[in-house]
Amino acid sequence: MKNPYLPYPVRIDEITTETEDKNLKTFKFAFINPDDEKDFTYTPGQFAELSVAGKGEIPIGIASSPTEKGFVKFTVNKVGSVTSHLHNMSVGDIMGVRGPLGNWYPWEEMEGKNVVIVGGGFAFTTLRSSIIYMLHPENRSRFRDITVVYGARTPGMLLYKEELATWEKRDDIKMHITVDGTTDPEWKYNIGFVPAITEKKISSAENSIAIVCGPPIMIKFTQPVLEKLGFPPERIILSLEMRMKCGIGKCGRCNIGEKYVCKDGPVFSLAQLKQLPPEY
Ligand SMILES: Cc1cc2nc3c(=O)[nH]c(=O)nc-3n(C[C@H](O)[C@H](O)[C@H](O)COP(=O)(O)OP(=O)(O)OC[C@H]3O[C@@H](n4cnc5c(N)ncnc54)[C@H](O)[C@@H]3O)c2cc1C
Ligand code: FES
Repeated sequence: MKNPYLPYPVRIDEITTETEDKNLKTFKFAFINPDDEKDFTYTPGQFAELSVAGKGEIPIGIASSPTEKGFVKFTVNKVGSVTSHLHNMSVGDIMGVRGPLGNWYPWEEMEGKNVVIVGGGFAFTTLRSSIIYMLHPENRSRFRDITVVYGARTPGMLLYKEELATWEKRDDIKMHITVDGTTDPEWKYNIGFVPAITEKKISSAENSIAIVCGPPIMIKFTQPVLEKLGFPPERIILSLEMRMKCGIGKCGRCNIGEKYVCKDGPVFSLAQLKQLPPEY
């Protein structure tokens, strides 16, 4: 078995600046050793530790889908030491990716159901992975209606703008893009916070499962909306972002009660979270 502390060496193949404030960049990595890509078998919802020599490691959700071959992608918000260093790196630079880590969205349970995806801000990363995965021709028939509510502060803060535009045009996915506010007269989508747009656009919870990923404030206000719409706590799936170090359940940095967010999560149902101390 591979040493779980050893990162795979990767090369930065492409860097895309996603947002108008330039604080969010997507990094496309290619594995230096082709066999490593085969070993790095992941499922949407998982994360990895990005390892920058001399700087440290940070947990980041995997933004690419396993149906996309030849690379793995991460979208990183510049907030501190390691993320700032990463933002200063260039195409061709070598670094490490350790993982995949954690659990994933409940794909088997989602089969045959309507899937409602609710995302806010830069936490949309593993939701991008999930949408690409579900829309893949091999997978689309496994799920019924797919509805997405995705919001950002302003139009310029939305991630993956080209992909959003492509999904908007498809008839096998329903998109409800929203912003908190804008002065752009060309803006033709929704204006309003994600929980309010969710309440307005989602009409039924019947045979449906909701996946929610966003900042804590968005999760706090989306949760009661989904419950009011009739989603039972078992069918509200949340992805948590606690402080982490090892990512493999060894250091005790990320626990909530008896659960380790890195190993038992980061994906939990609301029913599971209701059994834990309210530390998330
Ligand atoms: C499972 C998981 C998935 C994540 N996915 C993403 C992702 O897809 N994209 C992304 O940009 N970020 C993601 N994060 C958050 C990311 O790990 C932190 O922003 C990063 O570790 C900060 O590292 P730094 O060295 O730059 O910041 P530091 O210099 O360590 O800290 C700078 C600031 O960031 C805050 N911070 C540090 N770690 C975290 C954390 N885990 N959560 C919230 N605030 C933190 C600190 O309090 C401080 O204010 C994820 C975290 C987890 C646990
Ligand atoms: S990060 Fe070490 S136990 Fe979770």
